[in-house]
Amino acid sequence: MGKKAREIVEKAGVKVDELIDMLKKAYADEWIAFFYYSWLAKMIKGLESPAIASKIEEIAKEELEHQGELADRIIQLGGEPPKKFEELVKIANCPYVNIPEKLEDMKAVCKAIIEAERCAIEVYNKLLNWLTGVKADPVTFHIIRHILQEEVEHEDLFETILGE
Ligand SMILES: [Fe+2]
Ligand SMILES: [Fe+2]
Repeated sequence: MGKKAREIVEKAGVKVDELIDMLKKAYADEWIAFFYYSWLAKMIKGLESPAIASKIEEIAKEELEHQGELADRIIQLGGEPPKKFEELVKIANCPYVNIPEKLEDMKAVCKAIIEAERCAIEVYNKLLNWLTGVKADPVTFHIIRHILQEEVEHEDLFETILGE
């Protein structure tokens, strides 16, 4: 635990436990996105699927990085990331990705990913607004802004693939 890290944030007036809870929920979202994206990258079919699978793998890797960044911050603030997998699904803001019935339907696959990314964008946007309101935790603010930026890129990437 980063005792000083927590103390600074606490003294600045942040409700640290409330912040940790929000970070844990986002942490759960990242694992879930990673799980579904990894599954999709392996399972989609058809002529266009290899190119799209490699893009899905790329963003899955970034979701896994986000998970790690959030875990680090949770620990620095004196919290503990959830240790049971089932808890992730319970606390997540975005608990599933709508996997399309037809795994050769690339439009449906892209739409499912865009929908998931939009959920993530909303979560990080809210978190960033909350952090802007309390103005006292620049470290978390920086992490969340960085993650939000990547979620926006993910949405944009799959909108482009879809031709939106
Ligand atoms: Fe992410
Ligand atoms: Fe993403």
